[in-house]
Amino acid sequence: MNFQFGVDYYPEHWPEDRWETDARLMAEMGLKVVRLAEFAWAKLEPADGRFEFAWLDRALAVLDRRGLKVVLGTPTACPPAWLIEAHPDILPVDSQGRVRGFGGRHHDCQSNPVYRRYSERLVRAMADHWGKDARVVGWQTDNELGNSHDDLCHCGHCRAAFQAWLARRYGDVARLNTSWGTVFWSQTYSSFSQIPTPTLTPVNTHSPSLLLDWKRFHSDLIVDFQRAQIEVLRPLTPGQFITHNCMGFANTVDYFDLARELDFVSHDQYPVGFWEVPPGRSAADLAAALDLMAGLKRRSFWIMEQQSGPTGWQILAKTPRPGQLALWTAQSVAHGADTVVFFRWRSCTVGTEQYWHGILPHNGVPGRRYAELKGLIGGLGPLMPRFEGALSGAEVAIVHSYDQNWAFEIQPHHPDLDYQKYLLAVYRAFHGRQIPVDLVSDADDLRGYKLVVAPLAFLELPGVVQRLKEFVGEGGHLVLTMRTGVKDQANVCQTSAPLPGPYADLLGLEVLDYDCLRDGPVPVEFDGQKHQGSLWWDVVTPKGAQVVAWADGGDHKSEPAVTRNGVGKGTAWYVGTQPDAGLWAALAGLWAAQAAVEPVAIAQAGVELVRRRTAEGDFVFVLNHTAEAVAFEPKAAWHLVLGEALMPPWGFSVYETRKRGVQ
Ligand code: GLA
Ligand code: ZN
Repeated sequence: MNFQFGVDYYPEHWPEDRWETDARLMAEMGLKVVRLAEFAWAKLEPADGRFEFAWLDRALAVLDRRGLKVVLGTPTACPPAWLIEAHPDILPVDSQGRVRGFGGRHHDCQSNPVYRRYSERLVRAMADHWGKDARVVGWQTDNELGNSHDDLCHCGHCRAAFQAWLARRYGDVARLNTSWGTVFWSQTYSSFSQIPTPTLTPVNTHSPSLLLDWKRFHSDLIVDFQRAQIEVLRPLTPGQFITHNCMGFANTVDYFDLARELDFVSHDQYPVGFWEVPPGRSAADLAAALDLMAGLKRRSFWIMEQQSGPTGWQILAKTPRPGQLALWTAQSVAHGADTVVFFRWRSCTVGTEQYWHGILPHNGVPGRRYAELKGLIGGLGPLMPRFEGALSGAEVAIVHSYDQNWAFEIQPHHPDLDYQKYLLAVYRAFHGRQIPVDLVSDADDLRGYKLVVAPLAFLELPGVVQRLKEFVGEGGHLVLTMRTGVKDQANVCQTSAPLPGPYADLLGLEVLDYDCLRDGPVPVEFDGQKHQGSLWWDVVTPKGAQVVAWADGGDHKSEPAVTRNGVGKGTAWYVGTQPDAGLWAALAGLWAAQAAVEPVAIAQAGVELVRRRTAEGDFVFVLNHTAEAVAFEPKAAWHLVLGEALMPPWGFSVYETRKRGVQ
């Protein structure tokens, strides 16, 4: 069920006599779907058990007259003041024991039974009322689950829930003691009831095993919180979908788990969304977030919030240049969005998000953003049904593992080592070569890919070694990196074999020593070129593997940096450091060539090529992420279906290729 374009609308923020104008302007712009109600708890239930849905029904009626369908958000991210007043223990407690107060949003503890009961009652009332309403096409659970909950919650309910989660995982406390190694610093527990949540300690930290299980518990809690809503919604909302708006690389909750019970995932894409613009949030990084969303269920998705103007709360990010909002939207579609919903319709005059601008400015008069996006919708919208459901048909996969990410958050090794940055560096290398990549989970089936990169496979997780070995055994090309095979799944160092533990045979090497590169990078030579390895150096002893790059001076002179081990028709590569961008790019080229992976085509720097592959052929998006006009030369068999070969600054065009097999 797809609508191409829509918008997030908050009718409760505006006088009712304006709704008609809004609906007309939306329809004239080409929008077809509107998300409503996701923060409207206090309006929908102004007092305990008093549900007031009439105002929202009137908004639905206004939208319906203009042919606009509706997605309803369950407004559980904003428990109202009357509820908090009556039940203050709903408020979350941070790791220092401080209660976080009412006044923002997500001021809730997801283990709290009272909050759960009230949430589920409201969701049930809404589902009873709108579950069979043809104007409502689907539901969004809560809002950005995991947002605002990073360090929360440490209340008694959460502590009891954590202990119960541990009891289920370990069975008895003796097993937990052994698995975690609680003998260290006398942390042995004689009962699950003694186990703390990771609150502030004199040394500012906890056992790495406790910390990893806490992150897993926390993720499971969020999944469970959502599940409770889905269980209410499903039977009452036949024919309506259930989705959730995820946040790309946010990692409080394992999105592969969160996605499992959804019909499809949605994502919130804010290219320069935050007041602190993350350095290096390049077109490739935006693409990676979109590809992760496609990977969650390996299917196309929605954007539930696509940036529609300047953004910021107290401080603003840069205003998008003319063309950029349309370009970023096209990028979302290129990477697999079947519907893009813009956040938000009109810039709000009140509240924390006064400067998180909508399509319309504060005064409600359509301006530059309205015109730009209307133009985009008119051009791209009619094409979208032709590639609905299609993804890129990537032959390369990068494993994105929440467990590994969490383990490196707990122990980054080097102050600058970051799991996601490492992964993004790999992604950028393929992206720069216009090679489509899927981001997959540790548990995904890898058959069908030619080349798999599993960066920083630090923890040995169930089934993963076996799956990777089979992948290589069947002729696949696998890349593993530094800090692979170091620990078991309880975050305890493994002792059964020299590093890289269970992967030593596959890789044909041993790592008998290592060096955290606190003094700076190691010069590395590859293919006659000078590069650098930074942050970490595995001292690799080849046991059959061939060295393809090595240290070219310094403390590690002549030691291997990158190795290759042929295993039957397959190959297992090892990268024992963090390569610089040039080395990643060179290696990605080598791996792609060896695995016979082709780029979409060739393009100049700053131009991104993305395809959606259908049974009839490909739709190729050519995205100009530069401030200059670019003349793109398509392949002979490509037909221009949107835009021009000469793309304006921040412009894009779309080509259709001939049916595959037809030359
Ligand atoms: C998130 C939320 C929105 C809004 C924007 C801007 O993406 O889902 O409700 O708050 O951020 O801050
Ligand atoms: Zn709690």
